[in-house]
Amino acid sequence: MMAIRPVLEIDALSLAAKSNKKLVDNVSFSLSKGETLGLVGESGSGKSLTLRAILGILPRGIEQVGGTVKNEERSAMVFQDPRGSLDPLCPVVKQLTEVVYYRQRLSRRASRKAALELLHMLGLPASLQTSDRYPSQLSGGQCQRVVIAMALACKPGILLCDEPTTALDVTVQKQIMETISALQVELGFAMVFVTHNLAIAAAMCSKLCVMKEGKIIEQGNTLSLLQNPQNPYTQMLMNSVLPVPELEGSD
Ligand SMILES: Nc1ncnc2c1ncn2[C@@H]1O[C@H](COP(=O)(O)OP(=O)(O)OP(=O)(O)O)[C@@H](O)[C@H]1O
Ligand SMILES: [Mg+2]
Repeated sequence: MMAIRPVLEIDALSLAAKSNKKLVDNVSFSLSKGETLGLVGESGSGKSLTLRAILGILPRGIEQVGGTVKNEERSAMVFQDPRGSLDPLCPVVKQLTEVVYYRQRLSRRASRKAALELLHMLGLPASLQTSDRYPSQLSGGQCQRVVIAMALACKPGILLCDEPTTALDVTVQKQIMETISALQVELGFAMVFVTHNLAIAAAMCSKLCVMKEGKIIEQGNTLSLLQNPQNPYTQMLMNSVLPVPELEGSD
């Protein structure tokens, strides 16, 4: 059988601040076409920096001090804060049209048409497509859908999602997760998905990497990792999920 070539291969990646403190330490994982890998772990464990290293946009003062990132496909990122990813002074359709224009090299008119199609794909109402609305005139969930449309306008083979729904309420979270999953089936991109939420990780990801203090402390197939966590930290993460309280008189 022919081995599936990974679209992304990270080997012993280390990132450090100028002060020499290692922020990401010897991280390795790989991703195949159409696959979703989840990065979970506590705040400050290095999840966002790892995504930034894949995209090649490390913050000022942070350097790659070891390892390799082999990226066979174009990647695009959906950032943690949707509103912060949009220009508040520019109507959203115009912003998306600009991304399509520069990334897909279409004419101005075709770029606007493609932008409107993307908004439709993301399930945004037609009123938003025809009026020149600014980000402040959109809900958080609508902003996130626009940001996902912008990432998809780059026609990525790998979509990097950094907690794309943390800022949203749970019903909107669910709708956006379902939209992302449906688009993945339709467009075939691979995903690296950062989340704090193990239920979301279980629903979205076939493989998981658990990060703590810059290191991957456990990784593997999502189901077997969640059913039989080996590392005490992973066990602690699983135990910290609140059980659904039993309803009174439900027996
Ligand atoms: N620009 C920066 N300069 C210096 N240190 C940074 C910078 N960005 C992140 N760090 C540090 O690197 C470490 C990893 O940060 P990172 O943002 O990757 O965490 P994270 O796992 O994404 O956390 P969260 O879940 O809170 O988003 C943290 O200790 C953080 O303080
Ligand atoms: Mg982060």
